[in-house]
Amino acid sequence: LRHFLTTEGLSCELLTDILNTADSFVDMGAQSVKKVPLLRGKTVINLFFENSTRTRSTFELAAKRLSADVLNLDIATSATSKGETLRDTLWNLEAMHSDMFVVRHPNSGAAHFIAQHVTPNVAIINAGDGRHAHPTQAMLDMLTIRRHKGAFEPLKVAIVGDILHSRVARSQIHALNTLGADEVRLIAPKTLLPTDVDSLGVKVYSDLGEGLKDVDVVIMLRLQLERMQSAFLPSQGEFYKLYGLSRERLALANPGAIVMHPGPINRGVEIESEVADGAQSLILKQVGYGVATRMAVMSMAVSGQQTQAQAQSQENN
Ligand code: CP
Repeated sequence: LRHFLTTEGLSCELLTDILNTADSFVDMGAQSVKKVPLLRGKTVINLFFENSTRTRSTFELAAKRLSADVLNLDIATSATSKGETLRDTLWNLEAMHSDMFVVRHPNSGAAHFIAQHVTPNVAIINAGDGRHAHPTQAMLDMLTIRRHKGAFEPLKVAIVGDILHSRVARSQIHALNTLGADEVRLIAPKTLLPTDVDSLGVKVYSDLGEGLKDVDVVIMLRLQLERMQSAFLPSQGEFYKLYGLSRERLALANPGAIVMHPGPINRGVEIESEVADGAQSLILKQVGYGVATRMAVMSMAVSGQQTQAQAQSQENN
C-alpha cells in the first residue's frame, strides 16, 4: 500500500491483507490498550475539512497506538480562512516533515488531488471525499462482517437508504464485490440512487420488505441532508414510513441477520432505537473496529512507502 484513496480496483488479496492485519491488532488488544512501535518517529497530520466524530477520533487513537506523533490541524482556525490555498497549506505542512496526511474533504476527488501534489515521502489516507469514497469506513465494515459472519461468499448484504450521496455505500459495494459476497442489494427510492447504479454489480429494490428477504447483513444509511438541494429534500416522516428499519421489518431478513450503520444515526428517520440498540445491532462494534482497521491501513501505507523508497534508492545506485 502506498496511499489509501479508494477500495475500487484493489485486489481481493490486498483487501484480505488489510482485514488480516486489522484482525491481528484486535486480537493482540492493540486497539484498546497496548501500543506498538510501527510508526515510532513518524508524524501523522489529521486534515478534516468536514466535521467528524468517529473517523477523526479513531484515526487519532490508531496513530497514537502505533506510537506516531499526531497533529490535528483545526481547519476553522487555520490560515485557510485568510485565503491560503489547499496546495500551499499542504506544502507548509510537508515542510514540517510530515509522513502521512489523513484527509476528509467535502469535494469528491480531493484525496486524489492531494496525493498527486505531495512529495513521495507523504502517504495520503482518504477519510472521506464528497460522495466518492470512504475506504477505511468500508474496510472496518468488512472487518465487522467477517468477524461476526465468517466468509463473505454465502452472504447477501442489503444497503438501505440514501445511496446517491453516500461515499460509504460506494466503497462498501466495491469491497463486498471484490471480497466475493454472494449478493449486494441496494434498497432505495429511485431518487436516491446514483446514475451509474447499473454498472455497480448490485441488485436494486425499491421495496424494503422485498429487499430484506433472505438477507444476512443489513446496512442502514443516513439521509445526507447537507448534500441535498433544499427543493429536493425528502420528508423524513415519509422516508421512515417507507425505508425506516423497525423490529417488524428486520424480522423479514434471515433470523441471524446483523444490523450495521456507519453513523451518525438519525433515530426515527432511518432506524428505530429498538433496532439500533438491539441484540442484532453491531453499530458500536463497528466504531471499535475502526481503530484496528485504521492501524492496519496506516502501518501498511508506511511500510509500502519504505519498500518504494528502498527500491528507488537501489535503482539510483
Ligand atoms: N462514519 C463516519 O464517517 O462518521 P464521522 O462522520 O463521525 O466520522
